[in-house]
Amino acid sequence: MARMKRVPASFLPPIALDSRTKTPMYRQLYDWFRRAVIDGQMRPGQRVPSTRGLAAELKISRIPVLQAYEQLLAEGYFETFVGAGTCVASSIPDDALSPPFVKKRKGQQEIVGKRGPRRMSRRGVALTQSPEQSWLDNLGAFRVSLPALDHFPIRIWSNLVARHSRRPIKGIMAYAHAMGYLPFREAIAEYLSTVRGVRCDASQILVTTGSQQALQLSAQVLLDPKDRVCLEEPGYPSARHAFMMAGAQLVPISVDRDGLNVEEMIRRGRGARAVYVTPSHQYPTGMTMSASRRLLLLNWAASSGAWIIEDDYDSEYRFGSHPISSLQGLDTDARVIYVGTFSKVLFPALRLGYVVVPRDLVPAFFAARDAADVFSSTLYQAVLTDFIREGHFARHIRRMRMLYMDRRKALVNALQTQMGDMTEVIGTEAGMHLVAMLPAGTDDVEVSRKAGQRGISATPVSSCYLTAPARGGLVLGYGGANARQIHDGVGKLKMSIQDLSRAMIRRNLQ
Ligand SMILES: Cc1ncc(COP(=O)(O)O)c(C=O)c1O
Repeated sequence: MARMKRVPASFLPPIALDSRTKTPMYRQLYDWFRRAVIDGQMRPGQRVPSTRGLAAELKISRIPVLQAYEQLLAEGYFETFVGAGTCVASSIPDDALSPPFVKKRKGQQEIVGKRGPRRMSRRGVALTQSPEQSWLDNLGAFRVSLPALDHFPIRIWSNLVARHSRRPIKGIMAYAHAMGYLPFREAIAEYLSTVRGVRCDASQILVTTGSQQALQLSAQVLLDPKDRVCLEEPGYPSARHAFMMAGAQLVPISVDRDGLNVEEMIRRGRGARAVYVTPSHQYPTGMTMSASRRLLLLNWAASSGAWIIEDDYDSEYRFGSHPISSLQGLDTDARVIYVGTFSKVLFPALRLGYVVVPRDLVPAFFAARDAADVFSSTLYQAVLTDFIREGHFARHIRRMRMLYMDRRKALVNALQTQMGDMTEVIGTEAGMHLVAMLPAGTDDVEVSRKAGQRGISATPVSSCYLTAPARGGLVLGYGGANARQIHDGVGKLKMSIQDLSRAMIRRNLQ
């Protein structure tokens, strides 16, 4: 008999039995357990109470409990093991678990499950219809946005965590201000003014759960449903999702070697309430927005009353040239909402980011954050404050800049030597990823799927488009991959592209 994974017992939700209905007691118990298993309230392998114990707890006879358990055992919801008693089965009958599917009918949105149609919002439906991004589940070579975690000064970090955890003062454990921990906001403001040319003080810094929440709050505060928002095409898919959540209408605007095509945006984005841009290092193409485009964009925002959401997600890492100052620093009309993150410079599971809010919008952002999830963990804000103040942050960035520069070179070399003209690298020498364009006609999602089967994460550039792209490519992160992994990973990418070409030739011959 196969041994089943033992799952520790956990609390059962209350079982409500109704002695006044016609439904027999055993049936009520059977229905209750079946539902709990299907809904995941009871997990595979979890022990269920003994019949004697449950009968005593519910103050009923043991007979209906025995009958219900027998039925659940017969139908495969429960299993018994010698010495382990009765447990939830390790695999549940398939038809019980078949997922609901989303159906659209005459402008309505419904999720159709076993209980019939159930209405949900248009936004909810639109999000579930976004293509699955399976490449993001893979943490192997070329996963985008993955820093060199093995180079993180974990001992220093752990000491700082211990330092603050040992002092369980009210300030660390109680409710705190929705804008964030003040010393942390002061440290961020100082860093941004010195390094990024951002004009701000601590009162304008709102600490967020990563930059994703900053985008979501910006959308909530600045946009009404159906408002138009311009986005870079190709662009950052998660920004798209944040604006979709606010019910905004997305207007894709092309990107060229000078970044967002602002002239096109002015023509096509008439009436737009906001524009989302990554001017320092366009995601994913890696272009830097030219000075003339920056001024044009700021002028447009000032004259049309639109907002600019500037996502400065990885500008700490520029290799060939000096860092480019932020768009926010050039803004004289307080039109720019500046968003940043610690996900790339430190690590993504920290979930700390920030937004620099124009002064008059501070009360609205404060209220929106308070309504969303109140505030971020004070412990990590305090730890990071010391990490910055004691110089570890600046030292880590300097070390990582050198490392990523080497890793980028290694990747470009490997692509050139192993793949020749099969790919073409685009983008400035910055950040933690590059784009390798594929030969015309190559399906990048298929290449990504084949690479995934070989343990490689390659984000298809087409996933960054709202419309169909003219040519496919792969967004390849090099932050989290060492020289060996880069070399081997490129070999596997090459095999994936060759597999696909062979399959295409075979298909054409048939
Ligand atoms: C354009 C862009 N913005 C922001 C982020 C970081 O997101 P977060 O701070 O939510 O982890 C990423 C990471 O992938 C990104 O590519």
